[in-house]
Amino acid sequence: MKILSVQEMRDLDNSYIDKFGIPQGVLMENASLGAFEIMRKKNLHLSEKILVFCGGGNNGGDGIALARKIFSFNDNIKIYFLKEPNRFKDASLTNFKVADNLGIKWEILNGNSTDRIKKDISEADLIIDAIFGTGLDRDITGTPGELIDMINLSRAKIVSLDIPSGLNGNNGCIMGRCIEADYTISFGTLKYGHLINKGRKFCGKLFNCNISFPEYFTTDFKTSINIPDPLLPRNITGHKGSFGKALFISGSRDYLGAPLLNSYSFLNSGGGYSTLFSTEEVINSVSNFARELVFKRGAATDLGSLSLSNFEDIIELSKKNDVVAIGSGISIDPHTLNLARKVIEKCRNPIIIDGDGISAISENLEILKNRKSPTILTPHIGEFSRLTGLSIEQIQRDRVNILREAAKNLKSYIVLKDATTIIASPQGELLFSTTGNSGMGVAGSGDLLVGIIAMKLCTLPPLEACSTGVFVHGYTGDITSERYGEDGVLPTRMLENISLAIKNLRK
Ligand code: APR
Repeated sequence: MKILSVQEMRDLDNSYIDKFGIPQGVLMENASLGAFEIMRKKNLHLSEKILVFCGGGNNGGDGIALARKIFSFNDNIKIYFLKEPNRFKDASLTNFKVADNLGIKWEILNGNSTDRIKKDISEADLIIDAIFGTGLDRDITGTPGELIDMINLSRAKIVSLDIPSGLNGNNGCIMGRCIEADYTISFGTLKYGHLINKGRKFCGKLFNCNISFPEYFTTDFKTSINIPDPLLPRNITGHKGSFGKALFISGSRDYLGAPLLNSYSFLNSGGGYSTLFSTEEVINSVSNFARELVFKRGAATDLGSLSLSNFEDIIELSKKNDVVAIGSGISIDPHTLNLARKVIEKCRNPIIIDGDGISAISENLEILKNRKSPTILTPHIGEFSRLTGLSIEQIQRDRVNILREAAKNLKSYIVLKDATTIIASPQGELLFSTTGNSGMGVAGSGDLLVGIIAMKLCTLPPLEACSTGVFVHGYTGDITSERYGEDGVLPTRMLENISLAIKNLRK
């Protein structure tokens, strides 16, 4: 499924209406019918006391059309308007007139109605939020803001049409106030804001309903939900050389978990040969737990991290491997960061750069632009802020466009990790990944992702490797949380479940 910006969705709507001649009222009818069907299938309190709150734009019109449908079998429904309904335009006005003719109860929200609204809200079982849709263009204050506060306090289930009122459709930021929906029914396609920043939380359970665009209308858009191709069965005649060989350059005195999680997640994903390059101190402390790994001991700095003198050895080793991954837990010792930059510059393998490796490369981005083989960066938002030189706030306001541009400029695949992880390719593709859960927000979780992507990168092109790797990683977190709850999604437990996740996905 494609994911669009608010403007792209609006252009699509307009071109369908203007160029192809479909009446706007038909789109509104389809949207409300789609919403009604979803609500019916999900048993969303349609037979109880229902309030519909309609703003003055087309989202309000969608709300009236839905009220009409519900009214046909449940007359315990009332519409509150935020503005005089006779001032609606086009299809919204038509819908209002029909609703009025049918005898649906309605009232205009004003200072005199506050007590009645409070009572109605306290008695309602279901509230339909059609106050603002994607046309919200400034922070919500005054009467609509107070209304949203009241609705959020109610015990009723809340269904938002298209997008919760107050959520910015482009960046998922809250514009002053926001409805905390239990369910959101998006129209046409999902918008960026549904999935990023506060969107995942405020949308509740998210559905999309087709409003009758032909499929080909959206084929040119390069932004979609991350659903990887099915995993292929293992090669029956394969061997440890053909299942992928990866070199992990990770760990330092204070970061002993990262190298284990990196290199073992590669093996648990089905990789054949996992080599860990780290300091003697790191390797001595992890080797008892790591019988399947190959170790290469490198020289250490005074601070206990890898020294620059390891450069030649690493380059030699890289030639025997399909893929190199560098950066997890290597520390920010300047000598080590120097080493990381040199390795990234000279190594000819496809490379994954994580953690401190991203800090290293942020100081000389030309190295990335000049690399000839594929580069995958796996930053969280703090590391991405370092990489782009933009503040976290700036990124949150325009995450999708900033990410798209960064991947193009740096000629790199960027996996921006978050509740919704977004993968961006240098060619402009963007994949939004929604597998995973909040339990994965724990140190070490990202180290597993590096190993899983490394394994996939041994056999797949970079975008597919990221897509599958991120999906498997999130799904592994979901399997782990089923057993231990979200508080128990520790990376060591996830490690055990990676192969189980892959087994399930192969079915
Ligand atoms: N406070 C008060 N009014 C506001 C605010 C605000 N903070 N922000 C926007 N408005 C007003 C706008 O001036 C406009 O009149 O609200 C209206 C926007 O209403 P929407 O229904 O959000 O936007 P519109 O473009 O009419 O419709 C888009 O229609 O296709 C359907 O539901 C779909 O979300 C989509 C919606």
